[in-house]
Amino acid sequence: MRHIIAALFFFSSGQAFAQTPGSSDIQSGKEIWQGYFGLQNDCKLCHGDQGEGGFAKPLAGHQLTSAQFLRAVRQGPGIMPAFVPDKNLNDQQVGQVAAYLASLPKPTGAAPEWHTRVPPLATPRQKLMVSSGCGQCHGPVMANPRRTAGSIGADFEWFRQEVYEHTTAPLNVNRPHLRMGNYSKQQISEATLKDLWEFFANEQGLRVPIGAQISAGVPSGNGVTYTITLQNTGTPGKGLTAEYITVTLPLLRGKDPEEVTTMVEATTGGGYTGVHRDVITNSNAAEFEIPRLAPGEKRTFTITLSGKGANVGIPRGMVKWEKPRLNSGGTELIAVTTPLGQ
Ligand code: HEC
Ligand code: HEC
Repeated sequence: MRHIIAALFFFSSGQAFAQTPGSSDIQSGKEIWQGYFGLQNDCKLCHGDQGEGGFAKPLAGHQLTSAQFLRAVRQGPGIMPAFVPDKNLNDQQVGQVAAYLASLPKPTGAAPEWHTRVPPLATPRQKLMVSSGCGQCHGPVMANPRRTAGSIGADFEWFRQEVYEHTTAPLNVNRPHLRMGNYSKQQISEATLKDLWEFFANEQGLRVPIGAQISAGVPSGNGVTYTITLQNTGTPGKGLTAEYITVTLPLLRGKDPEEVTTMVEATTGGGYTGVHRDVITNSNAAEFEIPRLAPGEKRTFTITLSGKGANVGIPRGMVKWEKPRLNSGGTELIAVTTPLGQ
């Protein structure tokens, strides 16, 4: 009942206060909170999906004025990066987000968990990375930026610019919209930045940006043919080269894993090494091996299958490479994906 009266009061007095956000602002703010310019909105990763808090304090039911809210977003309080109007959220969008969050009930109960927690076996530098906030958006091992770094053979100077001058850094200057803001040296000191780089480039290691896709099956004279495209999307002359690459394509298996139901009739593209046991899927798998894939290089293979299951696709393909070895000890392993729409 009290809510209804409050709501009536709100609508009837709305006219009198030019600053009172209208319901359309709240609605727009809600939409922006889900994502903006077709991008994810990362505020949620620190402040909670519904503004209930997490790594950072709750924003639901806040009582900041729109000017105070905007100042916080532009300055970056605590360890929050400063978001800029032209690349991140513009002033109007921030105002709408502020209105939406103010309209939500204040959270009650215990503070929620961090979106990315410090892994139990974290090294001191990994702990620093997650608790500095980077890990809230980038996950516990910063997998994506390490891949970008591997695509250009990045160095510390690149890392420095990406953190302190993110929104004008060379790779980002021509991108219309960005999700990460800029950090100041008060927030991330030079010494901390060096530790973060040490974690990023040496404890974990830069990654080779390899992508692998498999086409839909095309019926041919002796079976069904699939085309596999393997590409190192790094910049030629700059990016990392992968070595000792294996493409594993698990074939459909019967109830008994030894039962052979699908046969390989032919391959093209070179590097085919036959059908082997795949320990991950516990089934027979056709394998290709290639010695190296340099940045910018693309290789195409085909495989023609016959027998039962030849036409169901090869959904669980994987690509791995031995070098550069991840410093965490493992080898890189990625999935062979099917292009959108298949
Ligand atoms: C990396 C984590 C992180 C991200 C991402 C983040 N924030 Fe923050 N935010 C913080 C921290 C830390 C504070 C300081 C208060 C605290 O320690 O909780 C803060 C404070 C604020 C404040 C001031 C709150 C007050 O009561 O003074 C506002 C407003 C705010 N954030 C809005 C946003 C918006 C809007 C976004 C998305 C554009 C965003 N934040 C993204 C971590 C983050
Ligand atoms: C609000 C979420 C968020 C936070 C917090 C954040 N990043 Fe990012 N970062 C991104 C996103 C998203 C990108 C991709 C470019 C973009 O949209 O801004 C990126 C890009 C980068 C890049 C460039 C490589 C690439 O893939 O584009 C580096 C390096 C990087 N971040 C390091 C860091 C470090 C170090 C921290 C902590 C000090 C940090 N980031 C904090 C979201 C975040």
